[in-house]
Amino acid sequence: MKSKELILILDFGGQYNQLIARRVRECNVYSEVVPYNISIEKIKEKNPKGIIFTGGPASVYGEDSPKCSEEIFNLGIPVLGICYGMQLMAHTLGGKVTSANTREYGETNVNLDNTSPLFQGFDNTNIFLMSHTDYVEKVPDGFKKIADTPVCPIAGMENSERKLYGIQFHPEVNNSKNGIQVIKNFLYNVCKCSGDWVMSSFVEDSIKSLKEKIGDKKALCALSGGVDSSVAAVLLSKAIGKNLTCIFVDHGLLRKKEGDEVEEIFTKYYDLNFVRVNAKDRFLEKLAGVTDPEKKRKIIGEEFIRVFEEEAKKLGTIDFLVQGTIYPDVIESGLGKSAVIKSHHNVGGLPEHVDFKEIVEPLRSLFKDEVRKTGLELGIPEKLVYRQPFPGPGLAIRIIGDITEDKLNILKDADSIFREEIANANLHRNINQYFAVLTNLKSVGVMGDERTYDYTVALRAVETTDFMTGVWSKIPYEVLEKVSSRIVNEVKHVNRVVYDITSKPPATIEWE
Ligand code: XMP
Repeated sequence: MKSKELILILDFGGQYNQLIARRVRECNVYSEVVPYNISIEKIKEKNPKGIIFTGGPASVYGEDSPKCSEEIFNLGIPVLGICYGMQLMAHTLGGKVTSANTREYGETNVNLDNTSPLFQGFDNTNIFLMSHTDYVEKVPDGFKKIADTPVCPIAGMENSERKLYGIQFHPEVNNSKNGIQVIKNFLYNVCKCSGDWVMSSFVEDSIKSLKEKIGDKKALCALSGGVDSSVAAVLLSKAIGKNLTCIFVDHGLLRKKEGDEVEEIFTKYYDLNFVRVNAKDRFLEKLAGVTDPEKKRKIIGEEFIRVFEEEAKKLGTIDFLVQGTIYPDVIESGLGKSAVIKSHHNVGGLPEHVDFKEIVEPLRSLFKDEVRKTGLELGIPEKLVYRQPFPGPGLAIRIIGDITEDKLNILKDADSIFREEIANANLHRNINQYFAVLTNLKSVGVMGDERTYDYTVALRAVETTDFMTGVWSKIPYEVLEKVSSRIVNEVKHVNRVVYDITSKPPATIEWE
């Protein structure tokens, strides 16, 4: 979609750069993260309504610290510098930045000049997260101080004439009280945005531009049943209907009933060609006797592509291949590192032997929460839109050791009971990922008067926002008890259930 309004976020290496971009979009203004050294010509070309400098770990006095040209402040475009961004603005325009002896860190009472348009609606003080060592000691000519703390003499500065603003604290994080209002004030009071970024117009505009781009040519999409590929497929189907073919490779390693659910949604509710390939036997054959997790991943990834290619070949030449790439996958870091690619998270990768002319990535500009909003906007069932992440290699990496059909069935049943009870206890919205694992440990048990020697199932549940770190979920004992007793009673060949109480790090979320 071509939003009329754009805010450019110049990335100076801060850990919150994506969060800032998301917050801006939450305020209904489209934003893009770009490397800090983007050229002035490029900025002019993009014609943003405003620019935000992110924080970063560097000091303006560091030899290799990321800098900006003074010209950027002369473009007449409003700039908000956050943390390092403020220090860089001060330093570049002739103010003075000093290094403190100690770091100021934590939620801090900041005194505000609430006559500044940036702090409109705030009291004289507000709690914001501070996290810095360097600070601005003297503002550049033409600027005035608009905030301070007991240890930071200038925690905010403005030059209202040139529309240049700096803040030492982080309004984008949740620890800052009503921090989003500072961002909103910048967007609406300073940049004079109108707020034209809403998901309904994204959907409308995307469908229109996909129609124009694809016309009556043919497109092909690999559906996994996950959120991204599903939303991409539905958008395409609204644009080109039956000229879209979705191939759903069911490798048999999905959760219980999942393959049928995907088929039902896409055949019942949407106008597209849906091809389901039931390839379980093929995958199990290739996986027979394989115990090494990385080998399992590789086999599944390769086989997936092969099956997809075979099906695609039957369709002849395809004009467009649809990919569910989303924004966090394409943002380039400001510090010259390569683009972030979650390689192992991409089951299929790109097929080499499918004859297509161009790739379409309709979700390329969206964050995950925006993909979900788009999904809801398109009428995709909530169950699918809020589906927890599920690894491409599926249950294969939740069966420790070699995979057999029997083990797969045991795991599917146990996992389905766990999910059912989590939903019954209404915990499914709080736990970000939860599943059962079939360990390859057998142990002695007793059932009635009989001795048993059967499998141990492990339950895993984590709370996380980024899946890079996470803590194990403190599921109430009564829920765990119910799950455990149901699994040993209802699933044959399981006589013991354990709960994984390790966080990440040091453990990972998946067991393999
Ligand atoms: P770990 O186990 O690395 O998992 O803590 C982090 C997140 O990534 C998912 N995951 C995968 N996703 N292919 C995927 O598509 C994989 O091979 C894979 N391995 C882990 C995992 O489910 C969790 O959400």
